[in-house]
Amino acid sequence: MAKKMRIAPSVLSANFAHLADDIAKVESGDILHLDVMDGHYVPNITFGPPLVKCIRSTTKMFLDVHLMIDNPEQYIEPFTQAGADNLTFHIEVARDPVGLVRQIRDQGVQVGVSLDPETPAELLEPVIDLVDMVLVMTVKPGFGGQSFKEEVLPKITQIARRRPEVLVEVDGGIGENTLARVVKAGADTFVAGSAIFGTPDPAATILKFREIIKLAVCHE
Ligand code: DX5
Ligand code: ZN
Repeated sequence: MAKKMRIAPSVLSANFAHLADDIAKVESGDILHLDVMDGHYVPNITFGPPLVKCIRSTTKMFLDVHLMIDNPEQYIEPFTQAGADNLTFHIEVARDPVGLVRQIRDQGVQVGVSLDPETPAELLEPVIDLVDMVLVMTVKPGFGGQSFKEEVLPKITQIARRRPEVLVEVDGGIGENTLARVVKAGADTFVAGSAIFGTPDPAATILKFREIIKLAVCHE
């Protein structure tokens, strides 16, 4: 059965002084992507469970939480308590990846595992059959608005073939010019920050994304 194609607006590019208004503009998206950065794993700092809790109270969207943090095992409960629907950790910092997957599942939420552009897909082997989603970074994590790394495309295909039922999310530099390529490579969930919030009408941009995705699926 064909997978559902999902658009995931990333609030990293929203205006945090008007966050509820900005989230309302992207509710026609499928899931809401929340980037948690700790200033250690990545050279940038964003927010933690208190803000996720506020976001939870303002939207019914599925909250897709991307943990770009060291020691993720310490924060699983706070983020699920705050209302996350999915927690994605980075394989590069997981000391006990299988234990971490179990810890997240025990909280009753979906589990994702992510990898940086230069991290080989083989590193996912211990957990790929256990997770709901693999998040393939198509830029070096840490900042919005970077250019898509074309060289990651074969890895997307490798992961999608390795386990056809796993959700494959792409994150970084996704927009009108890169969407078709990641669809054809095998991704089904598309994170976009600047390409959605950087446009005057984010809802219209989401519609345009859907058209591009539909066309790319037809020409697969
Ligand atoms: C970057 C984050 C992304 C970011 C993508 O490290 O993980 O989710 O919001 O931003 P764009 O879509 O602008 O590349
Ligand atoms: Zn992200």
